[in-house]
Amino acid sequence: MYEAKKFDLPALDGISQKSVDEHLGLYAGYVKNFNAISSLLGEYAKDAEKNAHALSELIRRRSFEFGGMRLHEHYFPQFEGGPSAAPASGPFFDAVAKEYHKMEYLVEMMRAIANMRGPGWAILYYDPEAKQFLTGFTGEQHQGHFVTLPIILAIDVWEHAFLLDYGALGKGKYIDAFFKNLNWDVVEKRFTAVSA
Ligand SMILES: [Fe+2]
Repeated sequence: MYEAKKFDLPALDGISQKSVDEHLGLYAGYVKNFNAISSLLGEYAKDAEKNAHALSELIRRRSFEFGGMRLHEHYFPQFEGGPSAAPASGPFFDAVAKEYHKMEYLVEMMRAIANMRGPGWAILYYDPEAKQFLTGFTGEQHQGHFVTLPIILAIDVWEHAFLLDYGALGKGKYIDAFFKNLNWDVVEKRFTAVSA
């Protein structure tokens, strides 16, 4: 059984407290539903033949709930401590510069992915084996991940992340607000942890 985590969030610029509170409520829902599905599996597996369809749907939906739980646990801490500028030196800066030439170009790529159509996440991964970044779009919470790769930056671009503050057409403004509030120290620390 998993428990919903608490986040020490400052007031955000351009993302309202009401939106954050509702978003935290949605996050808690993923934790609750992951646990709920997990608790059903044993019972359904007792007669796997009779419950084949229900069981296969539960198994498939469980990774959706888990993805929702873990991705939000990557999302909210990115605002903890308040905004800080992207690093201008150090191993993370160097690794980004090697692949993207400038930090701005990586941000540009992440913005482009975040603006893609459909609910999901724009994610920056790092592959410690190949020593390179991979950028991707995860549909819903669980589809299209680069398996096993650690997540360095996660931008929630489900409509629930921006609808309250900016309306259905306001994704671009929300992405601006996301970067305005982003604590790059958190991103850099994740890179440091997985690239050693
Ligand atoms: Fe979300």
